Amino acid sequence: MFHLLSTFFVFFIAGISARAPPTSFVLVGDSTTANGTTPNSGGWGNGFCGSSLTGNIASVASGTPCINTAHNGATTGTFVANGFWNISLAAIRGEVAKARRTIVTVQFGHNDMKIAPPESMGTNLTSMVQQIRAAGGEPVLVTSLTRRSFNADGTVADTLGPWADETILVAQQQKTHLLDLHAASISYVEAIGPDAAHVLNRLPDDNTHLNVNGTTVFGRMVADLMAVSFPGQLPIVQNAALSFNISHGIPSF
Ligand SMILES: *[C@@H]1O[C@H](CO)[C@@H](O)[C@H](O)[C@H]1NC(C)=O
Ligand SMILES: *[C@@H]1O[C@H](CO)[C@@H](O)[C@H](O)[C@H]1NC(C)=O
Ligand SMILES: *[C@@H]1O[C@H](CO)[C@@H](O)[C@H](O)[C@H]1NC(C)=O
Ligand SMILES: *[C@@H]1O[C@H](CO)[C@@H](O)[C@H](O)[C@H]1NC(C)=O
Ligand SMILES: *[C@@H]1O[C@H](CO)[C@@H](O)[C@H](O)[C@H]1NC(C)=O
Repeated sequence: MFHLLSTFFVFFIAGISARAPPTSFVLVGDSTTANGTTPNSGGWGNGFCGSSLTGNIASVASGTPCINTAHNGATTGTFVANGFWNISLAAIRGEVAKARRTIVTVQFGHNDMKIAPPESMGTNLTSMVQQIRAAGGEPVLVTSLTRRSFNADGTVADTLGPWADETILVAQQQKTHLLDLHAASISYVEAIGPDAAHVLNRLPDDNTHLNVNGTTVFGRMVADLMAVSFPGQLPIVQNAALSFNISHGIPSF
């Protein structure tokens, strides 16, 4: 996996373009994507979009709309039922109406896995993909960020795999872009080991949510996967030093 990632990053650095057309990002998901303005809520969105919380470290070019509509505790079902999906759709339509290429990431699994088999999430993801397209956006499915819980042998104690696999299946069926954040984040945290991985926790015992350094690292990981998936097309800014650390399994914090 590391060899694979390194290959990707070389490609990314060679492929980036300075002249991307007007583009917006809308993020959909649970707390592992969400803004993190309340305790234990931090996901990778702030590191991707940029935020005063990250000292304005961002992965997208300055002035790029990047609207994080992810919500803590959401499953694909509750996200819709509680009205958050309508907020996401309104954001997508608003950006499309401004004639912007509107890239919509969708990442679920952490809460879906607590209530239903993967196929239930898959059905709901398929509906979201179709509605994003109908609204004029471009869906990008993202597999679940790994939890930073480890087995005694140093491997990640993964429980999200079947939900990541389901997301990959829907991406293939619906022919969307796919960012395999689950695989990339497992490779990285296994390379840096438990102590360095836990430095990125929102709270010491919270292996799910991210602190400011965690959102910086995983927001950059998502940006780098995105830049590989859309070579030279998106207003993603480089952070070569952090990307180097991520692709080489080196802790940054
Ligand atoms: C998250 O932050 C973005 C950018 O500041 C903002 O547009 C969005 O409304 C926020 N989302 C939530 C759920 O607070
Ligand atoms: C998927 O959505 C349906 C409603 O359409 C809901 O009943 C179900 O619980 C959802 N599945 C998950 C995993 O959230
Ligand atoms: C979302 O919007 C649709 C269409 O306007 C509406 O039918 C539905 O009730 C809304 N959902 C929620 C939870 O408000
Ligand atoms: C990359 O890792 C090195 C060594 O741990 C660290 O000194 C440096 O600050 C990291 N770079 C970034 C941009 O995080
Ligand atoms: C983030 O990293 C910086 C630099 O290593 C450190 O000073 C800071 O305490 C870290 N923040 C958190 C919340 O751990």
